[in-house]
Amino acid sequence: MTLVLGIESSCDETAVAVVDGDRRIVAQRIASQDEEHAPFGGVVPEIAARAHAERLAPMIEAVLGDADVALGDLDGIAATAGPGLIGGVMVGLVSAKALAMASNVPLIAVNHLEGHALSPRLADGELNFPYALLLVSGGHCQILRVDGVGGYRRLATTIDDALGEAFDKTAKILGLGFPGGPAVERAAKEGDAKAVPLPRPMVGSGEPHFSFAGLKSAVLRAHESGKYKSEDIAASFQQAAIDCVVDRLRIALAEMQDCETLVVAGGVAANASVRAALEELAEKHGMRFTAPPPKLCTDNAAMIAWAGIERLGLPDFAGDPLDISARPRWPLDAGAEPVRGAGVKA
Ligand code: KG4
Ligand code: ZN
Repeated sequence: MTLVLGIESSCDETAVAVVDGDRRIVAQRIASQDEEHAPFGGVVPEIAARAHAERLAPMIEAVLGDADVALGDLDGIAATAGPGLIGGVMVGLVSAKALAMASNVPLIAVNHLEGHALSPRLADGELNFPYALLLVSGGHCQILRVDGVGGYRRLATTIDDALGEAFDKTAKILGLGFPGGPAVERAAKEGDAKAVPLPRPMVGSGEPHFSFAGLKSAVLRAHESGKYKSEDIAASFQQAAIDCVVDRLRIALAEMQDCETLVVAGGVAANASVRAALEELAEKHGMRFTAPPPKLCTDNAAMIAWAGIERLGLPDFAGDPLDISARPRWPLDAGAEPVRGAGVKA
């Protein structure tokens, strides 16, 4: 039975997990840095890197203990090698390299986005390739066709903000606290989604790309007008964002008619209203819908360990070289065409 240790440290969660080839999360721990970053209303890279450096080594020891596994029992040590905040990524990757070297176990340098992209297969053993994937997190907002492990074609991306970023900025404008996504979702439950007229950027465009900057500005104007309750703005924002996502996916799905399943992954996939809207869309297209449980949607190490297991299953892969570098940017589909008007995000 394949057994892999996973390490995640690319943003503000320090996480370690042991996962086996039967999709069993043998042990996992996760420490969020919400308290450290809350006073700044966002993640401060230097604070994040220090917190990872302090917490990671004892957490690895604790998770191996929880799992009752020795380093030598492992088939691989997987760590996020990018994209992300480079200080934190380096902490995780260097730790994984040291352990791999000391125990003579293969190192697997995992693309964080691949961790998210394959996480639905950890949760759902019936999910086969190819599938249509909406990957929505704090830094990324993409529609991908997943043909297999390592086979990702990007059909759409955002020309400005990621969807999670839009949730975070809305929370900041409304003073709902940090992290923003869950706070907006909670406030939205108390509000009226029809109360505030907000734009649906890109809706109607023939290309499936996203844009959320205009929606965020409209949220700011609505808030500053003093005319609306925060709950109503939150609910109206969430509905506008969902309408955009559903419209953009409808365009992209036309190019993925051979995919049986619509899949959502990444932090925003934890949002119950987003999940419900996608389930409805999938049904209309005659597709199955699957999403990992919310705890596997936000950053975690089980998905990194699982991506390691998936890569170890490839015929020609026996581990990455120990001199592999951490990468702040690392697109899943390096061949994807840049989008007109887009910033530099991977
Ligand atoms: O995947 P993730 O944990 O980290 C990145 O790789 O970025 O995603 C974090 C993002 C944040 O923007 C957060 O606000 C958003 O996911 N998020 C949510 C919810 N939970 C997390 N957005 C909307 N509703 C939620 N329940
Ligand atoms: Zn993530």
